[in-house]
Amino acid sequence: MAEFDKKDDAVDATPGISEVDVVEAATETAAVAAIEAPVDRGEPILQVRNLVKHFPLTQGILFKKQIGAVRAVDGVSFDLHQGETLGIVGESGCGKSTVAKLLMLLETATSGEVFYKGQDITKLSGRALKAVRRNIQMVFQDPYTSLNPRMTVGDIIGEPFEIHPEVAPKGDRRRKVQELLDVVGLNPEYINRYPHQFSGGQRQRIGIARGLALQPEIIICDEPVSALDVSVQAQVINLMAKLQDEFNLSYIFIAHDLSIVRHISDRVGVMYLGRMAEIGSDEQIYEHPTHPYTQALLSAVPVPDPEAREGRERIILTGDVPSPANPPSGCRFRTRCWKAEERCSTEEPVLAIPTRFQGVNTPAAHESACHFAEEKAVLAI
Ligand SMILES: Nc1ncnc2c1ncn2[C@@H]1O[C@H](COP(=O)(O)OP(=O)(O)OP(=O)(O)O)[C@@H](O)[C@H]1O
Ligand code: SF4
Ligand SMILES: [Mg+2]
Repeated sequence: MAEFDKKDDAVDATPGISEVDVVEAATETAAVAAIEAPVDRGEPILQVRNLVKHFPLTQGILFKKQIGAVRAVDGVSFDLHQGETLGIVGESGCGKSTVAKLLMLLETATSGEVFYKGQDITKLSGRALKAVRRNIQMVFQDPYTSLNPRMTVGDIIGEPFEIHPEVAPKGDRRRKVQELLDVVGLNPEYINRYPHQFSGGQRQRIGIARGLALQPEIIICDEPVSALDVSVQAQVINLMAKLQDEFNLSYIFIAHDLSIVRHISDRVGVMYLGRMAEIGSDEQIYEHPTHPYTQALLSAVPVPDPEAREGRERIILTGDVPSPANPPSGCRFRTRCWKAEERCSTEEPVLAIPTRFQGVNTPAAHESACHFAEEKAVLAI
């Protein structure tokens, strides 16, 4: 994977999307015209099927009465293959972190399944659950608040060994932690320091070392670089890419920043109001998007080249994101979609390869939840 070099000169922004530099993506855009050959990746390591999480909305203090539910995640399905990175993007509140917590089993799913190597982990308990938990770890967004300030770095990174002593017996833990510090590019002699003695980027390296401690197969990264300075983001992203190659890790990478997601992801899923709007390879999503929501998100990505910027169509979405407690009927995006028709309010579109593209050798032939899916190149202009 090429080194990621993120610059601090983004030109423009849209609510819910970070400022980004897309020089690299734009260059690739011009170069990529060929259609990707389908890749046989074998059995997925993770299969998410119709995952639902509704948070109850209650009224009353003593006698709580349920008056509704926040449909944070409302029927999400996708696969993750060994060694690949699936990026998940979407506006604030669309359910990305809730998906992450469901996969980590930190939240109980209302319904749906998560198959890890073919086994539904949402139904596990006891020892079987503990064994699976070891293989799916998380790197959190904020390295400033996610590390206990009263613990030394050695204790923070070594804490997972308390729950899984089989990975590192007591006498061997110090050495293991020092090895992990070295792996993430920190001096092993820092083992007795406290989090406040490190910079933001170094703290996120500590978070990554902790995530690696149990030698997981899957790491779920929820906005892992959003709290970092732009210059430091690139270092952490490059470290994550290097570790992925070294340990054949599979990543789910959640972020607002579309250029970072493109850089690190093999495939990308776009979420809107608790559902997946579109999913495909990075080339399919960034250069051949077929869902109006993806097209709007991409049209808001800043383009540093003034000439390219001038000739480019910008899709401005009107209206607020509806409440997940009361999503629109039919297609959830219809209240903001410029293409909406009568059918969109009565019939919910299914996430599938649109009929018109089925069997056609085109990058537009990827899953999109839109009745009128059609290709529109918004980044490549
Ligand atoms: N524990 C909870 N109880 C009630 N509602 C919740 C809870 N956790 C999340 N929600 C709601 O679920 C929806 C999805 O939240 P989530 O944190 O998954 O969004 P997100 O896509 O990660 O947003 P962001 O980009 O801002 O991090 C939001 O409307 C949020 O308010
Ligand atoms: S189904 Fe209709 S409302 Fe939804 S994205 Fe497609 S055109 Fe827009
Ligand atoms: Mg979140």
